[in-house]
Parts: sequence; structure tokens; C-alpha cells
Amino acid sequence: MIFPIHPALLLIFGSVIVESQTEETNICTTEGTKSLCVSREVIGLRGEDVTLPCRFTHEEESDMIALRVLFYLLTSSNKHYVYNSSSNYMDESFKGRIQPMGNASEGDGSVRITDLKMEDEGTYVCRFEWKTSLTTMDGFQARKGMQTQLRVDVRPEILRIWKESENSTNAEKLFCEAEAKPEPNITWMDPLGRLVELSGTMVGPDDTNQIQTIIISLNLTSQRPTGNYTCLAENQYGVVQELFNYEVFGRPSKTRHVLWTVLGGIIAAVALVALMAFACKWRRNRVKGPAR
Ligand SMILES: *[C@@H]1O[C@H](CO)[C@@H](O)[C@H](O)[C@H]1NC(C)=O
Ligand SMILES: *[C@@H]1O[C@H](CO)[C@@H](O)[C@H](O)[C@H]1NC(C)=O
Ligand SMILES: *[C@@H]1O[C@H](CO)[C@@H](O)[C@H](O)[C@H]1NC(C)=O
Ligand SMILES: *[C@@H]1O[C@H](CO)[C@@H](O)[C@H](O)[C@H]1NC(C)=O
Ligand SMILES: *[C@@H]1O[C@H](CO)[C@@H](O)[C@H](O)[C@H]1NC(C)=O
Ligand SMILES: *[C@@H]1O[C@H](CO)[C@@H](O)[C@H](O)[C@H]1NC(C)=O
Repeated sequence: MIFPIHPALLLIFGSVIVESQTEETNICTTEGTKSLCVSREVIGLRGEDVTLPCRFTHEEESDMIALRVLFYLLTSSNKHYVYNSSSNYMDESFKGRIQPMGNASEGDGSVRITDLKMEDEGTYVCRFEWKTSLTTMDGFQARKGMQTQLRVDVRPEILRIWKESENSTNAEKLFCEAEAKPEPNITWMDPLGRLVELSGTMVGPDDTNQIQTIIISLNLTSQRPTGNYTCLAENQYGVVQELFNYEVFGRPSKTRHVLWTVLGGIIAAVALVALMAFACKWRRNRVKGPAR
């Protein structure tokens, strides 16, 4: 068998670990001696962890008592109060998934969000609050346009691989359904490891900011070899594959045909030998019998 691209190689080199870029703080909101710096964009993967950096500095540090950090999540319709470092409050949807990465009392309000969900995507506003006396409060937050955009991407995953036959024509088709974000490249490989031209592709939804689900099909004509068909799905985070064993009933593969012929031959030969042995023994017994 020839494999122009061996799928196992793709699996080894295809996996990418993301994170890194998230640590830097590259946009700052500044006012007088106060400054608050965050990352403009952070990309995380569904089910994995991500860090939202937020650092606050103020020259009159001695005036700040009980410094704490708060996070708000802005979605298209709402503003959710998500986290409070001093009470360790977390919104219901983030229960147990936000961890402080620095000491907020010292101005490091960076947090880690674990086990990312698609719903976590949005704009995060970092806000510091402190007391200036027993009764008065002050605060400072990242200004609009200087906030953190969290994007949640998805590694490719094959959801389903199946065969369907059309009632009227008896034509058979293989289907493969995969999801990823951004949209995955998806292909079929035949049992000889050759890339196969697709017979059809369905993509959805139209909004490319969402998880893209793709279904590809392959017409199984009589020219197609039987054996394992491989569906491959790939985006920048990795490549996955799934096999479908295509062995048609009523159209036995050549090897199966040969196998049955050989097996039939062996059974016939064994039966013949047994019959001959029995015949010989019977004849010997008949010869010996009367001699006694
Ligand atoms: C954060 O927690 C502190 C201490 O529990 C509380 O005083 C403060 O009001 C909380 N902030 C918000 C915005 O709820
Ligand atoms: C955070 O910093 C404050 C002030 O420097 C200090 O008192 C406190 O112990 C620190 N907390 C932790 C968990 O390190
Ligand atoms: C295929 O045939 C079966 C039985 O003949 C019928 O119940 C079924 O609805 C048909 N399916 C389609 C897609 O025509
Ligand atoms: C696959 O089969 C369908 C009919 O089921 C046909 O319309 C289509 O043209 C075929 N595609 C290819 C690439 O052969
Ligand atoms: C198809 O794949 C299955 C499972 O990996 C394997 O056991 C089988 O030997 C393969 N068949 C062929 C013809 O390569
Ligand atoms: C997907 O395929 C297109 C065209 O073949 C190629 O330009 C692109 O780099 C591929 N993307 C990935 C993630 O493999």
C-alpha cells in the first residue's frame, strides 16, 4: 500500500499548542498616574485554559486600601459581573473556573479561566477598586476599545462517519461529519491512501465566528476499491481521522472471493482424504475379517 501522506505523520506534526501570546499586556488605559494594562486579544481552545492578564499601577499606592480586581463580561446584549477577587465571587456560569494568577492587592489582577466554553467568548472588562478611607471608594477600569477580546476556538473533531444507500438507485454514499473553529479542511482518502475528490460538501453556519460543522460525501461507485476509507479533518490546531470499513455485501472484494475459493478447496480436499482413509480401512477390515 502507498500512503502519499501518512495520516499518522499528520497526527504527530499536526498538533499545535496554543497559549503563550496571552501573557503579554499590550494595551493600557492611562489617566494621571493610574494605568491599567491588558491584552487586546486572547485566543483559547474549548475545554482548555487561558490567561487574561490585567495589571494596575498607581503612584499614590499608600492611599489604596483593600485593592481588589473585578471582571465583567460584555456580550452583545448584556454586561455580566463575573469575578471579584476579594470575595472570590464567581458568576454561576464560571463556578470553579476562575483562578487568580497574581496578587490583586499588589496590582496584578491576572486570572486564569479553565475548561473554556463557547459561551465564555466576549469582551472582558478588568476593573480595580479600592478604599481611600473607611467610607469612600474609588475605582479604575479598562476603557472601551482597550479591553480584552476572548476568542474561543475548537480543535477539529469527527462527529460521525456513516454509509447510506439510495432506495431507488441502490447507489451508496459515505458521509463524514466534522466540526472545528476556524472551519476545518476535510478530505477523504481511499484504501490505497489516495486523496479522493469529494462528491458533496455542506457547511454551516454562515457566521464564521461560530463552530463550523461540515459534512462531506463520497459516491461509492463500482470502481472504488473496498477497504478502509479515511476521513481527515484539519485546522491550525491539529488533524484528526476516522476510518470507515467499506466491505459490500453482494459485491465481495477480490480477496474475499479468493479466500472462499481456497477455503472451499481445503474443505473438499479434507473431505476427500477422510473418505479415502475410511474406504481403505473398510477394505482392510473386510480383508482381515474373514482371515481370523
Ligand atoms: C467585591 O467583594 C467585596 C468584599 O466581599 C465587596 O465589599 C464588594 O462590594 C464586591 N464588589 C462588587 C462589585 O460586588
Ligand atoms: C498579597 O499582597 C499583600 C500586600 O503585599 C500581602 O499582604 C498578601 O499576603 C499577599 N497575598 C498573597 C496570597 O501572597
Ligand atoms: C426507503 O424504503 C423504505 C422501505 O421500502 C421506506 O420505508 C423508506 O421511507 C424509503 N426511504 C427513502 C428515503 O425513500
Ligand atoms: C454523486 O451521486 C449523485 C447522485 O446520488 C450525483 O448527483 C452526483 O453527480 C455524484 N457526484 C459525483 C462527483 O460523482
Ligand atoms: C481496517 O481498519 C481496521 C481497524 O483499524 C483494521 O483492523 C483492519 O485490518 C483494516 N482493514 C484493512 C483492509 O486494512
Ligand atoms: C486548507 O486548504 C487550503 C486550500 O487547499 C489551504 O490554503 C489552507 O492552508 C488549508 N488550511 C489548513 C489549516 O490546512
